[in-house]
Amino acid sequence: MRPTRVVVTGAGGQVGRDLVDMLAGTVVPGQDTGFQPDARPVGRDEFTVVALTHQDLDVRDRDQVAATIASRAPDVVVHLAAYTAVDRAERDVATCLAVNADGTGHLSDACAAAGAHLIAVSTDYVFDGQSTRAYVETDAPHPRSVYGISKWLGERRCRPSDTVVRTSWVMGVRGRSVVHVIAQRARAGQPVRFVDDQRGTVTVAADLARALVTLIRERPGGLWHVANAGSLTWYELARFVGGWFGLDDGFATAITTAELEPPPLAPRPTRSDLDTGRWQARWAGLPPWTEGVDRLLGAWTAVTP
Ligand SMILES: NC(=O)c1ccc[n+]([C@@H]2O[C@H](COP(=O)([O-])OP(=O)(O)OC[C@H]3O[C@@H](n4cnc5c(N)ncnc54)[C@H](OP(=O)(O)O)[C@@H]3O)[C@@H](O)[C@H]2O)c1
Repeated sequence: MRPTRVVVTGAGGQVGRDLVDMLAGTVVPGQDTGFQPDARPVGRDEFTVVALTHQDLDVRDRDQVAATIASRAPDVVVHLAAYTAVDRAERDVATCLAVNADGTGHLSDACAAAGAHLIAVSTDYVFDGQSTRAYVETDAPHPRSVYGISKWLGERRCRPSDTVVRTSWVMGVRGRSVVHVIAQRARAGQPVRFVDDQRGTVTVAADLARALVTLIRERPGGLWHVANAGSLTWYELARFVGGWFGLDDGFATAITTAELEPPPLAPRPTRSDLDTGRWQARWAGLPPWTEGVDRLLGAWTAVTP
């Protein structure tokens, strides 16, 4: 059988790098080698991958997107390119909308024209946090930030036959996320203050890449929530990381969002934890966040002097 042809946009980002390496059969730092949601390890020569970084393709350019997808003739496109600076987006509305809303529309149109399946990645920030339970796919979005609005508009530019994955609090060994900030402070023995009134679900990039491999194979269409198991607050993450480095509870102090100084530009949902029940009814759920962050920290400390 010929390899599945996959195009990845945003290939230079934290999820993109892990996914491209995984599809190419290269070891991804921090991956769980024994885990694959559909229980089929990535086969040798199962995929050929075209990795498109921001330099290779600007998703705001409709014609460039159409020409690139047509010429590469992929079976599947995994669309990871995004404007992800949540606070900056509040003052850079036009760019954020152009990348996340229009860009996703360009990819959906180009895939439809080329006969490729689109997998687009979205966010928990489409929700406002007013729920009394974790969010399921059928809950109505009500984004509070420019970033959240732009991603929701991007979802709406997708066709029903496209697959849309909502994920949250993504952390990759090779990225730059909250966990890296906490780990650097922990290593230096400097205490941290983190909010205890924003609840969500962590998603380790290597684990998300495993889920994306399953979706590339299965191409189910529709909306799917994907995250590591269990929910937590940012303060609970800081405490976990401190404990990982052998520090006591004094390392992390819990504060409220109202106490943040300066206040963040973008409002965040007080809870945006994703219910992944739909995924788990079909495939194995991603490992617990504690296990994922443990792997991430092990791999990060090994490569970070
Ligand atoms: N990070 C999170 O916590 C989180 C949470 C929920 C959902 N997500 C979603 O998950 C997906 C992957 O996120 P990530 O964490 O891998 O983000 P990331 O590390 O910020 O990567 C995004 C990539 O998109 C590129 N990009 C930005 N503007 C572009 C444009 N106009 N055309 C083409 N590429 C462009 C960026 O390149 P430059 O850096 O060169 O601009 C970057 O390499 C995104 O859809 C994101 O919205 C992320």
